[in-house]
Amino acid sequence: MGALSRAAHALSFLLLSLLSITADASSLCSKQGSSLVRNISEATQSDFGRGGLAHITVAGALLHGMKEVEIWLQTFAPGTRTPIHRHSCEEVFVVLKGKGTLLLGSSSMKQPGTPQEFGIYANSTFSIPVNDPHQVWNRDEHEDLQMLVVISRPPVKAFIYDDWNVPHTAAKLKFPYYWDEECYNAPKDEL
Ligand SMILES: *[C@@H]1O[C@H](CO)[C@@H](O)[C@H](O)[C@H]1NC(C)=O
Ligand SMILES: *[C@@H]1O[C@H](CO)[C@@H](O)[C@H](O)[C@H]1NC(C)=O
Repeated sequence: MGALSRAAHALSFLLLSLLSITADASSLCSKQGSSLVRNISEATQSDFGRGGLAHITVAGALLHGMKEVEIWLQTFAPGTRTPIHRHSCEEVFVVLKGKGTLLLGSSSMKQPGTPQEFGIYANSTFSIPVNDPHQVWNRDEHEDLQMLVVISRPPVKAFIYDDWNVPHTAAKLKFPYYWDEECYNAPKDEL
């Protein structure tokens, strides 16, 4: 065998291994899409390292192959909140249980600035203007805050602010986002 054909063999072996790893990862991360009707009570729920959060991806890009929208069911324990963040997709919330505060900063100034505060409550719905920094906070001492969240253009690419005075240009990209990490990284981790 010449050096060239040995190289070709090595390359095709590498490609084949790559393909099988990718197939494994995608079956792991899209298995919940295998049946049309799924029981949310049996879906994987996790805090993804954020204490007090219970997140379920009801219908997701990486998990179920969604192209245009993604839907989450999220429960925030008393006192817990999302990071201050922005994203260039649309986002709609429906509050199912509990109450809390929506904090909304500005995208037209250099930094978010002092946020506007809105009370949110069971059966309230609100949408976040594209690219406006925001935070949802369960300020109740006793009750969970549960919401159904719909975003467009998944998977979400979020920029996180340490506080409301961080300039927009200094917000840090968190991608893949917490619940997208496992499926997004799976092929890379195996290599
Ligand atoms: C959905 O899952 C929950 C939890 O396992 C179970 O109690 C419930 O009976 C399931 N619903 C149906 C219709 O199978
Ligand atoms: C939300 O509104 C619907 C429609 O009016 C109503 O049937 C439901 O009971 C309400 N739920 C809560 C938690 O207020």
